[in-house]
Amino acid sequence: MKRPAAAAACPAAAAACPAAAAASAAAPSAVAVVLALAGIAAGCGTSLPARGGREGRDAPAAQPSGDPRVESLLARMTLEEKLGQLTQLEGAWDAPGGPKIDDRYRAMIAEGQVGSFLSVFGADFTRELQTIAVEKSRLGIPLLFAFDVIHGFRTTFPVPLAEASSWDPAAVEKAARVAAVEATAAGIHWTFAPMVDVARDARWGRIVEGSGEDPYLGMVMAAARVRGFQGEDLAAPDTLLACAKHFAAYGAAESGRDYNSVDVSERTLREVYLPPFRAAVDAGVVTLMSGFNDIGGMPASAHRGLLDGVLRREWGFSGFVVSDWESVGELIDHGLAADRAEAGRLALTAGVDMEMVSKTYIRELVAEVRAGRVPMAVVDRSVRRVLAAKQRLGLFDDPYRYSDPAREKGRILTPEHRTAARAMARESIVLLGNQAGILPLAAADLRTVAVIGPLADSRQAPLGPWSVPGRAADVVSVLEGIRAALPRARILHEPGVAIVGGAGDGVVPRDAASRTGSDRSGEDARGIARAVRAARRADAVILVVGESDTMSGEAKSRADLRLPGRQLDLARAVIAANRRTAVVLMNGRPLAIPELAAQAPALLETWFLGVETGNAVADVLFGAASPSGKLPVTFPTTTGQEPLYYNHKSTGRPGDDKVVWSSKYIDAPLQPLFPFGHGLSYTRFEYSDLSIGPQAPTARDTLVVDFALRNAGGRAGVEVAQLYIRDPAASATRPVLELKGFARVELQPGQTRRVRIEVPVAMLAFHGADMRRAVEPGEVQVMVGASSADLRLRGVVRIGGARMLVDDRSVFSRASIR
Ligand code: NOJ
Repeated sequence: MKRPAAAAACPAAAAACPAAAAASAAAPSAVAVVLALAGIAAGCGTSLPARGGREGRDAPAAQPSGDPRVESLLARMTLEEKLGQLTQLEGAWDAPGGPKIDDRYRAMIAEGQVGSFLSVFGADFTRELQTIAVEKSRLGIPLLFAFDVIHGFRTTFPVPLAEASSWDPAAVEKAARVAAVEATAAGIHWTFAPMVDVARDARWGRIVEGSGEDPYLGMVMAAARVRGFQGEDLAAPDTLLACAKHFAAYGAAESGRDYNSVDVSERTLREVYLPPFRAAVDAGVVTLMSGFNDIGGMPASAHRGLLDGVLRREWGFSGFVVSDWESVGELIDHGLAADRAEAGRLALTAGVDMEMVSKTYIRELVAEVRAGRVPMAVVDRSVRRVLAAKQRLGLFDDPYRYSDPAREKGRILTPEHRTAARAMARESIVLLGNQAGILPLAAADLRTVAVIGPLADSRQAPLGPWSVPGRAADVVSVLEGIRAALPRARILHEPGVAIVGGAGDGVVPRDAASRTGSDRSGEDARGIARAVRAARRADAVILVVGESDTMSGEAKSRADLRLPGRQLDLARAVIAANRRTAVVLMNGRPLAIPELAAQAPALLETWFLGVETGNAVADVLFGAASPSGKLPVTFPTTTGQEPLYYNHKSTGRPGDDKVVWSSKYIDAPLQPLFPFGHGLSYTRFEYSDLSIGPQAPTARDTLVVDFALRNAGGRAGVEVAQLYIRDPAASATRPVLELKGFARVELQPGQTRRVRIEVPVAMLAFHGADMRRAVEPGEVQVMVGASSADLRLRGVVRIGGARMLVDDRSVFSRASIR
């Protein structure tokens, strides 16, 4: 049992607590986050300021930005022009013939009433709108063009959840870089990405847009994407502003239903949902988006405690915050604001600098400021932040630098970009099972191959949700990829059944028949019979099933995580007809597919892989690449287990199927179908010879975890070795496992390499009984393995010294391979 030292100090971030700043500045860099107890004055509590909109303190007075250009503009702006800079209007990205805006918005641009547009792109169109801003408005302040560039622009990359399955931040950074090169060539200055919401519930459709359930993997991916989008120099014409969204805890929507309320403890907020945001901020992200959700009684878009307290005062964020789409106006629907004037007032004073779409700032706040209900200093503060971002992009020097038709022609969907997309797609594939050992298929043995399933020849589904500029015509379907890989084989193709139950237009079908697809049963039965005939005639079958692209993403929550429609019937029949069947899943969330997992001779998770889907899938099926992806999310056995995640607490009665009075279900197993971190390869890896030092580290030390990894199989492969810890007794309960590091290790057959993962002990800090973040002395178990449920090596360290307070600046472990 650990005995934490008396809590007498304050771990508040340097920004909020001068003593903490001094202690931190004095510390050597590796331990800069460790704040010595003695160095910190009491009285700077860290708890999330509960005060939100109505009861909030007055915002701090605006400080001059130090940028003469910004200050000189600000000095000349009318109140209306200032509020215009804080207003973002929407374009119609899907209008026939390309993006359009409402004609009335042109007049608003000329009057200086718009600071930014979203969903507007194209070199010519953005140039046309920019010309109005620069030449017709009184001060000529350029517009900022924003768009949801989520996983590639025209070269669609794998969906973010798939990219996270690679556990390869360098590749993910490169994917974001390619997206930035293409998007900026089409006039875009700002992407609403990365989405860094931790998601523990597979029912939530937006799980597809993030990096899964783990805060540490989420931090790594958040930082990688910010670096990729923003590059080294924001003034370069091929870098754009990133936007970490949705601040905060949007992924914790109750019952997995999109936009639903969130009620998490401050500890969970700080330890699970906030770290990826902190990582994005530490990586230099210039913007954040406030969420739609309510958090314990305060909507995120009016949450002063988060927006001002945590983000600005604790973390020292200096960029700007944009609301989500109409989330300011929706403060009325939440029941926080009585009218639109109050909604705008609450959001702006809480720290939402720019309002997306709902127009309360531009329409209501002139009167609010004039009546003294919103201080001018608060308006100025936000305007400075927005102007500073425009300045950083170089828009005051050349407002048209992103709107270059020649660049747009030459830099989009290039062969290099497709090559990068194919490599990323290959790495994103997770081999869930290969019971019958049928993969990889030896291409030379295959004379007839049946490619079956409703998604087998889809060019639309592989684009996944949020791929607006992506085009189905650019996509290589699985069928096409297989044809290209097997030019001499006879390829039979049968869709089998249709996918039903999707919400193509977002509207749920009213009648049960179309929800369940029973009105298609005749057609599906005939399709299954045709598929079985093809399967019987083939040397091998590739069966592609899952969800359509419209079944995940925003407003696409599902209450049933099984395969939609009659796809399971199809799979049963096809597998019975040909045991050499590899099942390829295409979907945007973990699915509850226990029967399929048990029966499939091989099972590949491909998510939505983008334009190079078919080629990447063929690379893996036929062994040109060995699968190396690992799940960033837990797969349930049944929907009722959700929310389901590996880093849960133990409970006082840990679940045990054989113990009646334990935390479990009477009608479902306790275990997930596939655990977090799971993913097989075409070879086998052996872990051995663990050493951990120092055995009794202090909070200022770094743990060095060293082990041997051997490729014990006959093929080259890549293993993602994972390092977890468990703190068995602490001043507040800890998760049963926590990921703290990983290493991607490439090994030839028979090769052994030593892997070293260095974990700064500061990474083991958590919010103790006093809600202060600290490293506590005592035992910590260290485990290394192939997944969160396949831990091969175990050791223990005993942290010595006194309890050490640590702030929450992002700290990462470091892997090296010898
Ligand atoms: C709403 C979504 O929640 C957000 O993620 C997106 O960036 C905006 N719409 C803009 O399209």
